Amino acid sequence: MAQQQTTTATPILEVNNLKKYFPLHSTGLFRRTIGHIKAVDDVSLVVQPGETLGVIGESGCGKTTLGRCIAHLYEITDGEIIVRDEGQEYRPGKLGRGNNTEFRKIVQVIFQDPFSSLNPRMNVLRSVGEPLLVNGIARGKELEERVADIIQHVGLNVGHLQRFPHSFSGGQRQRICIARALVINPKLVVADEPVSALDVSIQAQMLNLLKDLQQELGLSYLFVSHSMSVIRYMSDRILVMYAGKVVETGPRDDLLREPLHPYTEMLLKAVPKVNRRQGGRLSEVVAGEPPNLLDLPKGCVFHPRCPFAKDICREERPELRTITSGRQVSCHLAEELDLQGVFA
Ligand SMILES: Nc1ncnc2c1ncn2[C@@H]1O[C@H](COP(=O)(O)OP(=O)(O)OP(=O)(O)O)[C@@H](O)[C@H]1O
Ligand code: SF4
Ligand SMILES: [Mg+2]
Repeated sequence: MAQQQTTTATPILEVNNLKKYFPLHSTGLFRRTIGHIKAVDDVSLVVQPGETLGVIGESGCGKTTLGRCIAHLYEITDGEIIVRDEGQEYRPGKLGRGNNTEFRKIVQVIFQDPFSSLNPRMNVLRSVGEPLLVNGIARGKELEERVADIIQHVGLNVGHLQRFPHSFSGGQRQRICIARALVINPKLVVADEPVSALDVSIQAQMLNLLKDLQQELGLSYLFVSHSMSVIRYMSDRILVMYAGKVVETGPRDDLLREPLHPYTEMLLKAVPKVNRRQGGRLSEVVAGEPPNLLDLPKGCVFHPRCPFAKDICREERPELRTITSGRQVSCHLAEELDLQGVFA
């Protein structure tokens, strides 16, 4: 069982031993289950009120699946998700039973693609107001006032309310999506690559907007990205995922200055290359083949790509263990390796 990290405050989000396995079916008439993709495998984490936990890892490591489980868009395979607000605890119930209203009021999502996240037939007022209506929070005049208020918070104006998505730029659409996520006053926002689909020239603007909104509205973020520069800019703490598991977690500056896992070191070395290629995927710049989730190697799953691998690494899977307060790593050799960080 993964160890939970030490914390002082009561976390707004607590995830214990979360698993999400997708069944893999055979082709043909009977579609038998022939295996499982372990997209998220025994992940534990906490998010404190007002903090940003950045989740990083290369394509296919399970970041989106983790975020979607936490936002209760997927039924989980095993484990526990708890959110807390004003002294109350909420755990997501079965999907689609209408019993998740309270949970959804606290946890909202911003998706990567602002183009497909908005209904083209709904104007801004309807799009942004829909969560208020669906959750029975406001209607009529009050709904209009709340939509007008949040629209201004995200840098648009009331003149935009009657317009349809096609008349907005990518950045403006993402602002509408952010307004839609925030209109019901959530406490925790899962932001899944919220700037990756946007033009590089407006990415910084959007990140600053998200930071300002966090301050103003007291939000906590689970912020998912494959870009170390973005994660570095946004996060208070960082969680590094590899093949569905957490391989390292810690406060941002400590983790950047002194990584404990060889994979984290590789991600840090990849940063300038990713910038040069203007958003190149991590899998292109981290040496070796990304893991096949259907056929993970024995021992440490990172060993085929690890320059430090020893016999024990090929035989025994390392547990995620606490090294110092708030820092965890799953590497047999964490104490021996002298890995290279960057200036935080
Ligand atoms: N609905 C699904 N059904 C089956 N397999 C899935 C499903 N969603 C994701 N997967 C698989 O789970 C694994 C993790 O996918 P996920 O989308 O969470 O990765 P990611 O880290 O978000 O990648 P990216 O950086 O490309 O967005 C992948 O192998 C993916 O193919
Ligand atoms: S356990 Fe071994 S193979 Fe895995 S990251 Fe550590 S040194 Fe590398
Ligand atoms: Mg993803």
